Amino acid sequence: MTQKTIKTQFAKFQYFYPYTVALIGAKTQERTNFMSCAWHSALSFDPPLFGVLISKKRFTHHVIEEAKEFTVNFIRAEQAMLSAQYGRKSGFDFVKTDKFPIKLSPSRIIQSPVIDDAYVCFECRLEEIRTYGDHDLFVGEVLAIHQEENSFNEQGVLNPQNVRPLLYLGSDFYITIDSDSLAHVLPK
Ligand SMILES: Cc1cc2nc3c(=O)[nH]c(=O)nc-3n(C[C@H](O)[C@H](O)[C@H](O)COP(=O)(O)O)c2cc1C
Repeated sequence: MTQKTIKTQFAKFQYFYPYTVALIGAKTQERTNFMSCAWHSALSFDPPLFGVLISKKRFTHHVIEEAKEFTVNFIRAEQAMLSAQYGRKSGFDFVKTDKFPIKLSPSRIIQSPVIDDAYVCFECRLEEIRTYGDHDLFVGEVLAIHQEENSFNEQGVLNPQNVRPLLYLGSDFYITIDSDSLAHVLPK
């Protein structure tokens, strides 16, 4: 058996990373705001539900609560700086979209914009907010998906030749995938 260190006290709960980074945002009458988000997950195929975990401390929390909708925008490894900017600076202090310019496009169904440079974006209508400890789970029904041409194959599988998704390791470290490691594995 391999020797493992066992901890019952852990300052940072990030042993399950890497996770893909998405910029989550919404628009109200007053403001458009985005933040970096690693804690996200699909919750249901039918209806298509997607969940994002957002601390009550985030400005984004207030914006989405008011907008009752949000967009989820997945970015590439080359855009790590965007993740650092939108994930280490707060909309409470200044207008992030002014200081860290991103090109936005209108959504098809909701009012909140999607990020042009993201390789895939979801438009979500807020269905529910549930508290889990120090984070709130925002559950959205996915109403539309915007995907960049050639970023996914016809089965909807990411094309690793064209997209190197930004993966978060925690503590401001990032990594990405190696397309040479791709394997299509079926059970024998
Ligand atoms: C890569 C990355 C991932 C993050 N993931 C989350 C997350 O899943 N949930 C969360 O509440 N904060 C997360 N954060 C922190 C927020 O993005 C950060 O506090 C941000 O400044 C909030 O901006 P806002 O106050 O404008 O909403 C993450 C930060 C980084 C850099």
